[in-house]
Amino acid sequence: MPRLSELYQLDNFIDTFALGHYARVLDAVDLRTGGTVAFKVMRPEHLDSSGDMRWEYRAFGNEAEILARLWHSPNIVKLYDFGFISDREEAPRNGEITSYQSDIRGFKEALPRFAAAGWRPYLSMENLPRHHSLFYLMKPNRPNSRWRLPSEEGLALALQFSSLLDLAHSMQIVYLDHKLEHVYWDGVHLKVIDFNSSRRLEDERTQSPQQYTKDVHNMCVGVLYPLFTGMSPQKTSLRPQPSSREAVEARYTDIDSLDFSMEPSLSEGITELLQRGAAESITTVQEFINGLQRVATQHGWQFSDYYTSPASSQAREQMRAGLQRLRGGQEQVREARDLFREALIQDGISRDLEDELRRLVLVLNEMLNSRVVP
Ligand SMILES: Nc1ncnc2c1ncn2[C@@H]1O[C@H](COP(=O)(O)OP(=O)(O)O)[C@@H](O)[C@H]1O
Ligand SMILES: [Mg+2]
Repeated sequence: MPRLSELYQLDNFIDTFALGHYARVLDAVDLRTGGTVAFKVMRPEHLDSSGDMRWEYRAFGNEAEILARLWHSPNIVKLYDFGFISDREEAPRNGEITSYQSDIRGFKEALPRFAAAGWRPYLSMENLPRHHSLFYLMKPNRPNSRWRLPSEEGLALALQFSSLLDLAHSMQIVYLDHKLEHVYWDGVHLKVIDFNSSRRLEDERTQSPQQYTKDVHNMCVGVLYPLFTGMSPQKTSLRPQPSSREAVEARYTDIDSLDFSMEPSLSEGITELLQRGAAESITTVQEFINGLQRVATQHGWQFSDYYTSPASSQAREQMRAGLQRLRGGQEQVREARDLFREALIQDGISRDLEDELRRLVLVLNEMLNSRVVP
């Protein structure tokens, strides 16, 4: 059996700003491909001393299976490999590894055996940049501040999220664990992570309709409301949402209406749609998509079922071009900051140069902190 260090080079934790209940996640290099990956390994505290499989242990089999089933969606994190490691340290370094690569069935069948041996399950996935995490971006960094996505981007994100749910629901899969910590957005593309609380519904007839409705409700309350307002649905500023199994089930059940009073500039169509989602009066994701398309029409989008005036359609093109410039500008500022920062840590540079680089890094950090687009 190979050593862990033969297959993976494990580096720092990348989850510290948004810790999960099940796992720790590290930057890593897959030494077989040379590619950078995110290495998600079960927290050691979920190992059972008698060798039984706790809920958290099984959840890794569940997540691998769902990620594999949804592989064709452009809106989920890509799963590359999965298996078990013997090291019990929170940040594993040593010991052995068993890698199942793409053999989901083998991985799931092996779960009880490795649980009994005290090994921990891991998933190796596409590594998404921290500055695309909506939680990281939108969390206020000074008191009483909040950000919101431009409506154009929020609508684009909502449409992509709904098409992911549409695909998932067609395969009897519900996502359920909606929160900004799980949403990555670069301004154009959506990627969703963490499918271990998601479920494949076994019995189509009984529970299912409510579960699909709940999935739409949770998306409206847990993702779309915060990104259009910068607020938690619990009416506080953004903060991490609890994530154990029970907490995911209960998280938004009491929320059936949303407060938009702090964001009067938000379009009525958007607030009304999200209110209906929160009230569970939208029962299927297809119904939500229809509503969303109608609203997007008011923002210059074009769909075959609704009328958009040529002027609105043109204005939207300008809007998109402008947003693209803003994002590009922000990216350039970030790159400039990184160049100065790297230069700053070179050995042997003169005092004058060091002072000037430090000043520039500070000023650019300020600029990035009051970003124009979350
Ligand atoms: N593929 C990834 N790329 C980058 N960061 C990730 C990735 N997956 C997880 N993370 C980070 O790790 C944190 C915990 O991961 P998550 O999958 O939510 O674990 P849990 O199942 O324990 O909730 C996330 O909030 C995110 O910050
Ligand atoms: Mg999570």
